[in-house]
Amino acid sequence: MIYPITVYGDPVLRKITTDIDQGFIGLEKLVEDMFETMHNAEGVGLAAPQIGLTCRIFVIDLSALGEDEPSLKDFKKVFINPRILEEDGEKVLMEEGCLSIPGLREEVLRYDTVRISYLDTDLKEHDEVFTGFPARVIQHEYDHLEGVMFVDHCSPLKKRILKGKLSDITKGQVSTSYRIKVPK
Ligand code: NI
Repeated sequence: MIYPITVYGDPVLRKITTDIDQGFIGLEKLVEDMFETMHNAEGVGLAAPQIGLTCRIFVIDLSALGEDEPSLKDFKKVFINPRILEEDGEKVLMEEGCLSIPGLREEVLRYDTVRISYLDTDLKEHDEVFTGFPARVIQHEYDHLEGVMFVDHCSPLKKRILKGKLSDITKGQVSTSYRIKVPK
């Protein structure tokens, strides 16, 4: 099932998410729906608040980039109850976008390396280190679970410049190739 994607201004995107417990019903279906929703919108990552849920899960699929970057060809992962344990390395500026902020891209400064613990869909524990683009996407999606959006990292001046565009998005005055849920 393809969910409509929540956009900037929706209070659900500002909630701090809660852990998924072992007895969570419908986890497999949720993961399938999240990938379907993300692929439909041509995104590389999607976090639960972007489909209106406040549980601690995000999905990432970088396999489409595998042609240019072979190391990403099998990168399709689900992160359940993730915790960033360490951020390290250089801080790098890179342009980011977000399905919840359609049509807007800005440079964001983030660490190059991240160590994260999480559960996979079999609820098996992982503790892994990621660098480069995967680390970038992981930090972006992880932010969503903490109620943070990439524009929050922009300078106060930049935020002032973006204000009009963000307010248009909140009113649904934006064109997208996928269905969005406009805040009330
Ligand atoms: Ni995003």
